[in-house]
Amino acid sequence: MARLRVAVVGVGHLGKEHARILAGLPDVELAGVVDVNGEQAQAVARQCGTTAYTAYWPLLNLVDAAVIAVPTIYHHAIASDFLCRGIPLLVEKPLAASLVEADALLALARRYGVLLQVGHIERFNPAFEELRRRPLQPKFIDGQRVGPFTGRSTDIGAVLDLMIHDLDLLLTLVQAPVLTVDAVGVSLLGGHEDVVQARLTFGNGCVANLTASRVSPRPTRRMSVWAPEGYAGIDFARRRLTLVQPTEPLRRQALPARGLGRDELFGRHLQTLELDCNHGDQLTRELQHFVECVRTKATPRVSGEDGRNAIALASRILERIRTHRWDGREGPTGPVQLPAPLGPLFMPEEPRQAA
Ligand SMILES: NC(=O)c1ccc[n+]([C@@H]2O[C@H](COP(=O)([O-])OP(=O)(O)OC[C@H]3O[C@@H](n4cnc5c(N)ncnc54)[C@H](O)[C@@H]3O)[C@@H](O)[C@H]2O)c1
Repeated sequence: MARLRVAVVGVGHLGKEHARILAGLPDVELAGVVDVNGEQAQAVARQCGTTAYTAYWPLLNLVDAAVIAVPTIYHHAIASDFLCRGIPLLVEKPLAASLVEADALLALARRYGVLLQVGHIERFNPAFEELRRRPLQPKFIDGQRVGPFTGRSTDIGAVLDLMIHDLDLLLTLVQAPVLTVDAVGVSLLGGHEDVVQARLTFGNGCVANLTASRVSPRPTRRMSVWAPEGYAGIDFARRRLTLVQPTEPLRRQALPARGLGRDELFGRHLQTLELDCNHGDQLTRELQHFVECVRTKATPRVSGEDGRNAIALASRILERIRTHRWDGREGPTGPVQLPAPLGPLFMPEEPRQAA
């Protein structure tokens, strides 16, 4: 079987990992890496034993597939050129910078009959895969995706950068239309929102609260799901899944609440299973799946439609954030404007001991 010739366009923080993994897949030939930063392209090409390019057009006639990992605002223009030539793509998340651009990419993929996969990598997180093997009807979901400022992805805000992962996971888990969207967001660094909280209600009664921040000192990527079957907690960073299910008497509320000790409740009637799901990393699994889908012409697990639907929901959240009035009817609106502060919360020299 001939090796699949794949290129990676944009080999910065994430693209260089795509290139490293692809170079190590037995049935793939990393045909080249592209970056407008020539030194970066050279460095990654050297490490991966391939050719460096500073423009992607020479590769359009040389590859069977490509990964697009440039900043989001360039996804649409670059992905369009590949799709028009019938080259299957894995486009990093978010699929595009706007719903209009996402729809345009989908239309091109359909018109030219080309495979389009989107890099919603958490779908390949072994802890999420493990959860998907279990029967679960989510009714309340809480998602937290926060971390320190990285200086990257400043072309978009926290919704398209971070929350988009959880929006895609919600749409996968809940499988019902989103009826209402409420959200607030604040910009700390100017331009886009850096901290966001959103509450979504679904047509099947499920409610979800999501928090995303790129200015939090400590990183957390977690999701909690409450369902009639029990509770599921995923720690995406540690690839750990916690499952809790009530015993039959507890489910029937047949236990006397009085006298039910903590140990008896947690030790006996709430059965817990902690699963370490550290068999393989999600980026390798995502790329193997992409290669497999290109070869077999199967529909990818995260299709262009999925990427588009996550952006459609993100757009509703962004609209709520943009129109939020901090003082009620009149006054500052949206993530960038805020009411004037009343004064400092504390003086820098204030003693650390409270009065
Ligand atoms: N799936 C995930 O978990 C995840 C994580 C991080 C980033 N991303 C996505 O990956 C993409 C890249 O993010 P990053 O953090 O690697 O950014 P980055 O800034 O580290 O890397 C982007 C690279 O693209 C290059 N580039 C810019 N314009 C180009 C062009 N026209 N042609 C070729 N190269 C060009 C830059 O020089 C840079 O090296 C973004 O869409 C981001 O949202 C996804």
